[in-house]
Amino acid sequence: MHITHLSLTNFRNYGRLELTLPQGPILLYGNNAQGKTNLLEAIYYLATTRSPHADNDAQLLNWNATQAEEPLIVGRLNATVATSKQTISLEMRLIQEQKIARSRTRNFSFRRQALIDRRKVRLMDLLGMMRVVLFLPEDVQLLTGSPANRRRYMNITLCQIDPVYCRTLSNYNKVLEQRNATLRQLAEGQPVRDVLPIYTEKLVELGSLIFLRRAKFLANISQQTQQIHYESLTAGKESIKLLYLPRLNSSRSKVSPYEEQSTTELADWLENHQGQSELVSERFGKLLADSLATDIARGATTIGPHRDDWTFQLNGRSLGSFGSRGQQRTAILALKMGEINWMETATGERPILLLDEVVAELDEQRRAALLNAVTSTTQAILTATDPGMFSDTFLQTATRMEVKNGRIQIAVQE
Ligand SMILES: Nc1ncnc2c1ncn2[C@@H]1O[C@H](COP(=O)(O)OP(=O)(O)OP(=O)(O)O)[C@@H](O)[C@H]1O
Ligand SMILES: [Mg+2]
Repeated sequence: MHITHLSLTNFRNYGRLELTLPQGPILLYGNNAQGKTNLLEAIYYLATTRSPHADNDAQLLNWNATQAEEPLIVGRLNATVATSKQTISLEMRLIQEQKIARSRTRNFSFRRQALIDRRKVRLMDLLGMMRVVLFLPEDVQLLTGSPANRRRYMNITLCQIDPVYCRTLSNYNKVLEQRNATLRQLAEGQPVRDVLPIYTEKLVELGSLIFLRRAKFLANISQQTQQIHYESLTAGKESIKLLYLPRLNSSRSKVSPYEEQSTTELADWLENHQGQSELVSERFGKLLADSLATDIARGATTIGPHRDDWTFQLNGRSLGSFGSRGQQRTAILALKMGEINWMETATGERPILLLDEVVAELDEQRRAALLNAVTSTTQAILTATDPGMFSDTFLQTATRMEVKNGRIQIAVQE
């Protein structure tokens, strides 16, 4: 699939942008702080309804626009996407209303609106309409950062191809919030115990589906990642594995890198019980019952997929704890390339690649492997400050566009 046209209004440093995009590799180049990353962010946001950077979506609105004393500020992202079956228009609106009081203090409210072919839809309906794989320099944090980072990666990636998973997850989170609120009320001695079994039962039902889906996802993506890592990136020297660490065991605060092996069994067990959610529910339900006292004391549910994690293992050891910087980068590169293949296998179509400044960090062999994936895909958008770092052969196949202060110009090819 590929984007044929992108239009942005009041998004980051783009006041107004109309951009026709070709197929094949596109190289966005320009000095620092001109809008290269912002453009990738806009596309990623339309695809996933999430920003990889902003913690608050109102930050995505153009500053100049928000400083105006208008009651309504609207940011708009629109992409026309061509797939093998259809051409669709995807739109996201970011709407900020502000009331300015006499005292000059401002009151904000912010909401979002999604549209497909100009018709209003739920935000969740945008997911999967345009599939992307984003690769950022900071993705190494998937190895060294917090479990929340890794869960987020798993959720966003899976949601792009599995709307059922996405809905289940959203419902799970709602029930979890209700259950936790009830646990807190119990801790305060309020008489609410009779609703707890209802929430617990629902949590078990939804949570079991999430455990199962994640186990399958990690097994699949692990296989794709390993193949690329082993064959194209390390010349048959190093084996990599993505290991699921489901929080479907009794309460331990953290799995140490030395204990991961025992968790392998649990991940394997889940993978071998696909379609048998009642067995998983039984186990999950029992663990929740056993931890009830702890959960009430903490006012939070301590077991369940909201506490999941996963890890990379290189030749059997945790890569986040023991890997060199270069090994970690190679693993992430393999993961991203694995993601492309995984999405293609799952949907029959190659996703759009978004690569932010990652090529500069790679050595020659790894750069060649990545650029090979880039040129063999339908559309890939790469950013760089200096196009000179790419080979002439690559530059000849790529469309070059210069980004300057929120404007984009197609460079004339020599
Ligand atoms: N909400 C916003 N409104 C207006 N400008 C913004 C907003 N958010 C960020 N910017 C600005 O947009 C500019 C471009 O940012 P971007 O990250 O896209 O640069 P870049 O071209 O990728 O640069 P680099 O090469 O340094 O990575 C920055 O100067 C940033 O401060
Ligand atoms: Mg940038």
